[in-house]
Order: sequence, then structure tokens, then C-alpha cells
Amino acid sequence: MQRWVEFPLFCRLGLKGEGQDVLEIGCGSGYGAVLLGRLRPGSYVGIDLMPEQIELARARPGLPGAEFLVMDAADMGRFPEASKDCIVMFGMLHHTRKWREVLRECHRVLRPGGTLFLEEPGGKAVRLWDKLFQWDHPAEASFGLAELEDQLRGGGFKIVKRLRLFPFGLYCAEKVPG
Ligand SMILES: C[S@@+](CC[C@H](N)C(=O)[O-])C[C@H]1O[C@@H](n2cnc3c(N)ncnc32)[C@H](O)[C@@H]1O
Repeated sequence: MQRWVEFPLFCRLGLKGEGQDVLEIGCGSGYGAVLLGRLRPGSYVGIDLMPEQIELARARPGLPGAEFLVMDAADMGRFPEASKDCIVMFGMLHHTRKWREVLRECHRVLRPGGTLFLEEPGGKAVRLWDKLFQWDHPAEASFGLAELEDQLRGGGFKIVKRLRLFPFGLYCAEKVPG
């Protein structure tokens, strides 16, 4: 999904990355780093809440210069304000009840004009999957795409490009300067 759908669609939405300071939130075992590395970023940092995932990411071969950190995206105090050009999230927000805080932190950490690329399923689909497959996403993160878009706009982002691929939404959102 990341390789064949999300990453190519992010590129279609304008993901460039070349020479940029890129942060991936919810990097898991580091496959996103492989894909984003193809864009030749100036720097790449991947963060994840789970130490086991970060260990796997660090052990992945062929990622010179990539840095992986255990960190809660709702509190990225370790990154200074306006220190990243681009933030990428491959379907991560609906895994955390603190999704609004994560978006606030993304806004703080991005440089003015910096871009956030995210892909999320709508809350109705997540609730259905939870029922069918006995998954257990947090109820507080069961947001609809309209609510996500409101949160982005209200949080100082301009949605530059959007793609709806039912039940998913993919976005390129820019931090509004000022
Ligand atoms: C859909 S998975 C992404 C998996 C990853 N793309 C991979 O290839 O392994 C979402 C990831 O977000 C992480 N995550 C969930 N809540 C988080 C948070 N508050 N801060 C940072 N990472 C978080 C999870 O641990 C999980 O690895």
C-alpha cells in the first residue's frame, strides 16, 4: 500500500523532498524511509511511539544518514519550532487519540510554507474494520475526513491538494505563513 498507492499518490500531490528536512511520523519499521530516501532529502528523521519498531527501522540496511527516534508525535519538543520543511504520515493519525495535538505539533515544527502530507481513512471505515477484524483503534480517533479537514484549516494549514479514494483521503497541506 505504501509503495504502490500512498507514496506515488503523495508524489502526485506534490511531494518533492529533495534537499528538504523531512520528518516521517509513525515510521514503523522504516519502509517509509526507503521510499522517502529516493527523493534525496537533505535530512530524514523517522519517529514512532514503539521502541520495537524503531529498533527494526535502525537495523534496516541501506539507509545512511536516516535517523530514527522513539517519540510521541503529540509532544515533539525535541524538535525546535520551524525546523522541518516536510512532514509525512502514512495512515498514522487514526492510531492515536491525541490526533489533534499531533496536528498542532506538526504546525509548530514546520517552517512557514512547509508541507504536511497525510493519508487517512474516514472514521466510518475504521469503525467497520474494527468490527469485522476485531481491531481496536481508539474511539477518540474515529474522525471523519470533513472533521480532519476542519482541524487542518483551523490549525493554520491550507489544504493545497486533496485526493479522495474512498474511504481514504490524501492531503497536501501547507503551513500558512504568519
Ligand atoms: C499504520 S502504522 C505505520 C507503519 C509503518 N508505515 C511501517 O511500515 O511499519 C502507524 C504507526 O504509527 C505509530 N504511532 C501511533 N501513535 C503514535 C504517536 N502518538 N506518536 C508516534 N507514532 C505513533 C504506531 O506505532 C505505528 O507504527
